Amino acid sequence: MKRISALELRDKKTRGERIDVSTAYDATFTRLIDPHVDAILVGDSLGMVVQGHDDTLQVTLEHMVYHCAAVARSSRRAHLIGDLPFMTYQVSPSQGVESAGRLVQSGSVQSVKLEGGQAVAATVEKICQAGIPVMGHLGLTPQSVHSLGGFKVQGRGSKAAARLLDDALALESAGVFALVLEMIPSEAAATISEALKVPTIGIGAGSRCDGQVLVSYDMLGLNPEFKPRFVEHYAELASPIQDAMRAYADDVRAGRFPTKEHSYRQAALEVVKSEEQALDSKTPNGKHSP
Ligand code: KIV
Repeated sequence: MKRISALELRDKKTRGERIDVSTAYDATFTRLIDPHVDAILVGDSLGMVVQGHDDTLQVTLEHMVYHCAAVARSSRRAHLIGDLPFMTYQVSPSQGVESAGRLVQSGSVQSVKLEGGQAVAATVEKICQAGIPVMGHLGLTPQSVHSLGGFKVQGRGSKAAARLLDDALALESAGVFALVLEMIPSEAAATISEALKVPTIGIGAGSRCDGQVLVSYDMLGLNPEFKPRFVEHYAELASPIQDAMRAYADDVRAGRFPTKEHSYRQAALEVVKSEEQALDSKTPNGKHSP
């Protein structure tokens, strides 16, 4: 199966095709998500939804490599974007190139994403020159949560919107193939989307972006109490998971699980052997080895 490239994503805008992006952080979710979306972002949002932090600032390059590689092993089709975490590109363009190289070489992603506007344009340019496609990220940039004073809508008011547009144009000139716009007014996002040749990917930025991205755990309703205005729950998976866990625990406590159907018996050695052989011929991914 042919993997979608950064160039194909970029060219979707000229064809008037919208781009759908979801996050993923592990092999199991990737297998479910990969066939259905254009791109998977291994986002540093994993600091919050996987690691349990209040923000993304504790995520390291090692963490990102680990999760990118897990996603890459289970993905065949979607374009894979790895997030460059806090303090792995802000120091200098060469630091950014080295960090991006690590994500591509050891994490097996095809492109990287970083946050910021004109301040990171030189870094974007260097990473692109090294042959690594870069996705930009403007608006609410979570790695700057402390200087932004919280997770708040950005770009409100004409001056702030004009600054966003300048930043977007600087990133396009530096070579980004796409640009995430997070939590900005839809009018500002529409203006930027019209001004740029490269696609904008919105999250809380209205319907006139060229594509959309959501955190998979949020849109699947795994964190039911987290429901900001821009998130749609396409499923409510928290309750069925909790119900299943309760039923399992009840069955174990009451002695209803396991039954004899789940158990191996001395008399049926051939059955055991054939099951063991079947398991031996599987890789840890659950796929049959050639
Ligand atoms: O880390 C992430 O998941 C992101 C998206 C929310 C765009 O940056």
